[in-house]
Amino acid sequence: MIDFGLMPIANGFLSPENVEGEDWFPLAVVVCSRCTMVQLRDVIPPERLFPADYVFHSSTSAGMASHFEEFAHALLREVSGRNDAFIVEIGSNDGILLRHVAAAGIRHVGVEPAGRVADVARSRGVNTESRFFDSAVAAELRAEHGAAHVIVSANVICHIAAIHEVAAGVAHLLHPEGIFVFEDPYLGDILELASFDQMYDEHVFYFSLASVQYLFAQYGLEVVDVMRQRVHGGSMRYFLAHAGSRAASDRVAEMRAREEELKLGSAATYDTFRARVAAKREALRSLLERLRSEGRRVVGYAATSKSTTTIVYCGLTQEHLEFICDTTPAKQGKVSPGAHIPVRPHQAFVADYPDYAVLFAWNHLTEVLAKEQDFTQGGGRFIAYVPEVRTLDATS
Ligand code: TMP
Repeated sequence: MIDFGLMPIANGFLSPENVEGEDWFPLAVVVCSRCTMVQLRDVIPPERLFPADYVFHSSTSAGMASHFEEFAHALLREVSGRNDAFIVEIGSNDGILLRHVAAAGIRHVGVEPAGRVADVARSRGVNTESRFFDSAVAAELRAEHGAAHVIVSANVICHIAAIHEVAAGVAHLLHPEGIFVFEDPYLGDILELASFDQMYDEHVFYFSLASVQYLFAQYGLEVVDVMRQRVHGGSMRYFLAHAGSRAASDRVAEMRAREEELKLGSAATYDTFRARVAAKREALRSLLERLRSEGRRVVGYAATSKSTTTIVYCGLTQEHLEFICDTTPAKQGKVSPGAHIPVRPHQAFVADYPDYAVLFAWNHLTEVLAKEQDFTQGGGRFIAYVPEVRTLDATS
């Protein structure tokens, strides 16, 4: 579908003294002609992507915190009335969701391999197992706690190359009347927005309803509902149950019909995507080249994992972006993967506003614009590249 060539590890922010010998890996996305699953052609071992000191913390945005609070309450409604309720989260990160389950006194386990974020979750009262979820972990959890009434996962299933292990584990661990709910960035939105920066090493799968149905049907699980979500630049929440245990909502058939219109099985769909992405690269590069030649100060706003794809694919360097500001302490003082652009605290942005800031956290646009009114009202401008490359004015 699209080949980006070699890329560094997307979340592999480096100490400036360690930039020598950085590893590069092929990044290419392909489409399965049988089931239309869109996925990475090559995968990097998960131990390499999610080390103990993994720097991505879910709780970095107020918008995500409220999204997960609402999500947790919807799951708690699902188990209300059961005094033995048991909820499992696959990839519970720093406990952004399960802390609400813990606070409600509901039995739960978060399975989170990245040690540092798992410790944050534990400090919030979330029972956390530092492991990669697979069928063996599922069997152990079931033996110890019984079947799960809810299994939940957000922005995690699409990261797991061993997806058949996950599906088998979920099918085993899920209570006969239970529900498996997960959400991930949605292929339909990626194609519509040409959000090529969703493509990086951690995102092994780019799900559609069609590909999710095909995959989980092999394990006796059926999609019984779907809900589109605004988070992460457009996501889909899928609800699955043991086949025949629940009636499917009309939304499932409606979404399938909409996907037929998207022609996910047609090569022309991906040709269009590729052409739009190449055009955006040229537009972003030439805008930044022009600003550089005019002597404007430009920085990057938020050192997101997505920014690695954008920066490296578009060939951006410190000549284009003086630094990238980010609120995550673990990223500050480091340099970006590949291009080695310094990452500085948000205060560095506020202390001396640049003329322009490339909005790498475009999925948090509303939150960022609300927060940065002093910058925009003082004449500063954000540059966006999703869906198109453009400069935002103060009223955007
Ligand atoms: P993501 O949620 O798109 O993955 O990006 C989160 C990253 O963006 C994380 O490194 C924190 C950073 N960020 C900021 O620096 N400032 C902000 O206002 C927001 C919303 C995120």
